Amino acid sequence: MKRPLHSASVMPSRRGMLFGAAAAAAVPLSMLGRGQAVAQQDPMDHTTMAPGSASNHGGHAGFPSGSVPPGRAGFDPTAILRDFDKGTVSTLPDGRTLREWDITAYDRDIEIAPGVTFPGWTYNGRIPGPSLWAREGDALRIHFTNAGSHPHTIHFHGVHRAEMDGTAGIGAGSILPGQRFTYEFDAEPFGTHLYHCHQSPLAPHIAKGLYGAFIVEPKAGRPEADEMIMVMNGYNTDGGDDNEFYSVNGLPFHFMDHPVQVTKGQLVRIHLINILEYDPINSFHVHANFFHYYPTGTSLTPSEYTDTIMQAQGQRGILEMRFPHPGKYMFHAHKTEFAELGWMGFFEVSE
Ligand code: CU
Ligand code: CA
Ligand code: CU
Repeated sequence: MKRPLHSASVMPSRRGMLFGAAAAAAVPLSMLGRGQAVAQQDPMDHTTMAPGSASNHGGHAGFPSGSVPPGRAGFDPTAILRDFDKGTVSTLPDGRTLREWDITAYDRDIEIAPGVTFPGWTYNGRIPGPSLWAREGDALRIHFTNAGSHPHTIHFHGVHRAEMDGTAGIGAGSILPGQRFTYEFDAEPFGTHLYHCHQSPLAPHIAKGLYGAFIVEPKAGRPEADEMIMVMNGYNTDGGDDNEFYSVNGLPFHFMDHPVQVTKGQLVRIHLINILEYDPINSFHVHANFFHYYPTGTSLTPSEYTDTIMQAQGQRGILEMRFPHPGKYMFHAHKTEFAELGWMGFFEVSE
């Protein structure tokens, strides 16, 4: 399928901007994905596709899409899927479990797509930051160090006192570069939550990469499952107030090239979180299957049986499903633009 690209002299589309950003990066051809190498040979050829756009829909399952190798990005979305960080665990005098984490904010340039470097602000060097896991009622301490170039906070969703809310101007408020603060609160309510920086101006402080998952397991637990985390985000690589890339767990198109491996018939539980800035709504759609949806994960009874849900920024929920047949099944934003700019992937179901 041929898809025209816009030159710089016409009203630039986001896909056109994406192409321009990648072409301007001037990285060796050997480091580029296939589509991008073609684009560099003739940047004015209007028949070439944008790097990583995977717009050759004729290919369907298995087509290469130009995700950056995790080793070059410095983190791996596949590892993030099942990386629940339970912290350093000890027991308080009253018998309760105490979980502690060290989180450091620092600036880091990340190659998010082949030849495209994003000047990120990170928690612990990755986007999204670590996925914190606790059991309902645990005592939590998050030791935060700001080693970045701007004031930051960590604002947790959950129930806690005002001074632990990580909001500029309240309690410790903004944590300045070089400063530390310990956030301390209990894990409640159970559910799938998130945390993010709440420093003004808020949009760039979130969009630069300061966010992560915060999972509170019910006291009685949930049924055994292959449990995973998917954080939906975007990247504004060229300024303005729109995104040029979209992803799950930080790297556009990653799960096209590295499908999520699942087992036929096994219960799959996905903690899905939308932190996308600049666009009002994100969505999740799975092919050839349906899932039970638990909004915010705060109830043990699903509210819906469907194959598509949407989330505004900050919304999240749990999806539970079983794949009855082996094979490769797409999942993606049911917003074509987001999908074509990186938010698409595969489940690969084996016997
Ligand atoms: Cu910040
Ligand atoms: Ca932009
Ligand atoms: Cu929030």
